[in-house]
This record gives sequence, C-alpha cells and structure tokens, in this order.
Amino acid sequence: MDEPAQLGALLRDGAVEPMVDDSNGIETIAPITPGDIESFHRALDLVARERKYLSFLEAPPLDQTRRFALDRIAKGDPGFVAVIRGEVVGWCDITRHDRLIHAHRGSLGMGIVASHRGRGLGLRLINATLAQARKTGFVRVELSVHADNARAIALYDKVGFVREGVQRDAICIDGQYGDTIMMAIVELENAAG
Ligand SMILES: CC(C)(COP(=O)(O)OP(=O)(O)OC[C@H]1O[C@@H](n2cnc3c(N)ncnc32)[C@H](O)[C@@H]1OP(=O)(O)O)[C@@H](O)C(=O)NCCC(=O)NCCS
Repeated sequence: MDEPAQLGALLRDGAVEPMVDDSNGIETIAPITPGDIESFHRALDLVARERKYLSFLEAPPLDQTRRFALDRIAKGDPGFVAVIRGEVVGWCDITRHDRLIHAHRGSLGMGIVASHRGRGLGLRLINATLAQARKTGFVRVELSVHADNARAIALYDKVGFVREGVQRDAICIDGQYGDTIMMAIVELENAAG
C-alpha cells in the first residue's frame, strides 16, 4: 500500500495521532474553540504579513475573524489548532461550500508561524483535519497553493492531494505575478459518513 493510501486507511479507522499535553511546552493539536480565536488571529496575521503564502497580506479584522471562526465551529466544519504554552502557532481548517450542489466540497487552509515550521506540526494538523473531514462526510477537499510554495506542495502530495491544474498569473504580490496550483482529494466513499 502506498503512503497516502495507508494514511487514508489509518485515518478512516479513526487512528488519529494522540494529542499531546502542552504543560511542558510540548504542542497540543486540538479542535479550535472560541477561546483560541484571538490567538489564532495573531498567528494568521503573522503568516499573512510574510506576504508569500496566503491569500491575504494581513489578517482580516479580529471581529470578522471571530464571526468567521464561530460560524465554522457552529457548522461543525473541521478545524484544528496547534497550541504551545497557550498560544496558537498553527491552524488547519476546511470550510464547507454552501450551495447545495457544492455541499460535498470543502476548501482547506493552513499555516504554521515561521519559528515552528519543519517540526512535523503541519503534518499532524492536516492529518487531524482530514480525519475529521472524512468522519463528517466530505467527499472532496480542495485547495489552492502558490506554485513556488514547494514545502506546502510536498506536504499536500504526501497526504494524498492530487494536482488538478494551474491557474496562470492568478496572484499578484508587490507587482510580481505568480501561478497557483489547484489540488484536491476526492473520496466518494466518505458520502456515507
Ligand atoms: C506548509 C506548512 C503548513 C508545512 O508545515 P510544517 O510544520 O512546516 O511541515 P512539517 O514539518 O509537518 O513537514 C511535513 C512535510 O512537509 C514537507 N516539508 C517540510 N519542510 C519542508 C521543506 N523545507 N522543503 C520541502 N518540503 C518540506 C515534507 O514533505 C514534510 O514531510 P517529511 O518531513 O516527512 O519529508 C508550513 O511550513 C507553513 O505554514 N508554511 C507557510 C504558510 C503556508 O505555506 N501555508 C499553506 C498555504 S497553501
């Protein structure tokens, strides 16, 4: 069995990696709660201000972020945060599309603050979030990633996302145009979930 398939089988059986206590500074991966929103907003703002990876260059205002996050929590959309000593250092979430014919789809977004990258947090966050998506019946999880974001693309490849196409010159940051790559996981078997 190849790695993504093996991972899918593990996740479908609910074998998500164990959560870890953060009392000694070790990270916790847990569903986002209303109490995490301000800290999530700070993490989102830090990553956005790097001007390289996200579709905004700073976080939306806190009240807008709070409304969006509370709405997602109320709907039961998958969303996890990585927390170290009470501070959110990473997130991964999937937002369900709202039109009836698109309601089997969700869009994934994620980020880790720079100082905590490359230590496995992204992989643990995306695994937890995809496991929840499978349990809650998402058939299609999709995302768009800047074509020069090799680290994120490697992570998405690793967990089973498939490239569906390129949007040419789809972004413009500081006068520089760049392509985005569309990727998705499609699992019709989740419909029964
Ligand atoms: C992309 C991102 C979420 C990955 O999270 P991370 O915690 O840094 O990654 P992990 O340590 O969990 O590594 C997971 C996999 O990512 C890939 N990866 C990690 N660091 C990498 C690097 N420097 N170069 C290439 N691939 C890399 C590898 O496939 C890795 O698996 P491996 O270690 O078994 O080879 C994170 O780096 C990040 O937030 N980057 C900036 C924001 C961003 O790009 N968000 C996504 C927008 S679409």
